[in-house]
Amino acid sequence: MRTQVGIIGSGPSGLLLSQILHHHGIESVIMERQSRDHVLGRIRAGVLEQSTVDMLRAAGVGERMDREGLVHGGFHLAFDGRMEYIDMQKWTGGNSVMVYGQTEVTSDLIEKRLSDGGIIEYEAPAVAIENFLDGKPRVIFEKDGGRQQLDCDFVAGCDGYHGVSRKSIDPGSIKELERVYPFGWLGILADVPPVDRELIYINHERGFALCSMRSHTRSRFYIQCDLTDSVDNWTDEAFWEELRRRLPEAAAQKLVTGPRLEMSIAPLRSFVAEPMRFGNLFLAGDAAHIVPPTGAKGLNLAASDIHYLSRALIAYYSENRTDLLDRYSDTCLLRVWKAVRFSWWFTAMMHKFEDDPLSPRLQRAELDYLTGSEAARTMMAENYVGLPFEPFE
Ligand code: FAD
Ligand code: PHB
Repeated sequence: MRTQVGIIGSGPSGLLLSQILHHHGIESVIMERQSRDHVLGRIRAGVLEQSTVDMLRAAGVGERMDREGLVHGGFHLAFDGRMEYIDMQKWTGGNSVMVYGQTEVTSDLIEKRLSDGGIIEYEAPAVAIENFLDGKPRVIFEKDGGRQQLDCDFVAGCDGYHGVSRKSIDPGSIKELERVYPFGWLGILADVPPVDRELIYINHERGFALCSMRSHTRSRFYIQCDLTDSVDNWTDEAFWEELRRRLPEAAAQKLVTGPRLEMSIAPLRSFVAEPMRFGNLFLAGDAAHIVPPTGAKGLNLAASDIHYLSRALIAYYSENRTDLLDRYSDTCLLRVWKAVRFSWWFTAMMHKFEDDPLSPRLQRAELDYLTGSEAARTMMAENYVGLPFEPFE
């Protein structure tokens, strides 16, 4: 098999790249380790920045999102018996975010890709990438019990944190920086109405909690849990009870409970691999960086990487330019590190750190300062709605 751009991974980053390239007449093939049902069964992100929304519209997959997505102009921070509203629209000159599940984004992109004649090879794990440093790369993948080869001009490693792309790079040429947090998030998805119109991020002495949603009738809640915890330890009743204990009074009164549609635990980490380009292999999305979900930045960073990578590839194929490919890594990393900083800061302010006696008082001071200062609220609001893309022409 041969194509122009070989894409490993059919998460949001791989699918979005393939669709944008298709609009510019550039061929690609996507290799995906899992089945289509498995990819569509994963419950993950929920909040899209305006720039991600704009990219999805431009890629031709905005119709259902615009119909079913929920526009949010702010969110609540709950702490110390208080509930404070961060009015993002007010502090950013009118910007907002869209609540629309990653599962829906992925489903819309898959449908569009396939109806436009795109190739997605499911249950086809890439096992190696060869010859990418100074020649035309080859992706070796497994399919139907045998090994096959995809020859291409470039490879986009969109295969997430555990993928093969980053692991194909000589450890001496890549720097990996990581912080693992001493807790995880236990999440539940249920067909119950949200407790509030807006999301509520809660700092509580028993640990962090988050009230989010997918629609007016479907909610997503998270509670901070131990790293050693397991979903098997939690009945639905135990989850709702623990959540209720952490909710502000008004939200606790409105909480409607119901059977789980899904329950899972996510570990929290900050991770960046530098650089993001190795010859003709480009890393994008979670393959190159992970942020704790507190800032709702992971999927949005994947989209901004794809903004830069698609532009660089389009400039190469249409004008024979290589300068944008050369600047890809440095440009991505500027925005990546700002999101890593914001996600770390928001995580540190909201979670319970067992071994740090200072942390509750520092958090209280930070939250009090944040909600009392226009400058601090503006900083939080402009980061949450998403920082602008770096100039890249
Ligand atoms: P992935 O979605 O991980 O996709 C990678 C794909 O590559 C997968 O389909 C995988 O099966 C495939 N793959 C792996 N190895 C191979 C191989 N060898 N061969 C072929 N295919 C392979 N982000 C936000 O922006 N907002 C949020 O609100 C938010 N909330 C989150 C909540 C939780 C609980 C979690 C866990 C994450 C959240 N995120 C959020 C982060 C977001 O989900 C990720 O950043 C996003 O999925 C990254 O997309 P991706 O395409 O880069 O990687
Ligand atoms: C979600 O709805 O899954 C969600 C929302 C906001 C976050 C993280 C996850 O910060």
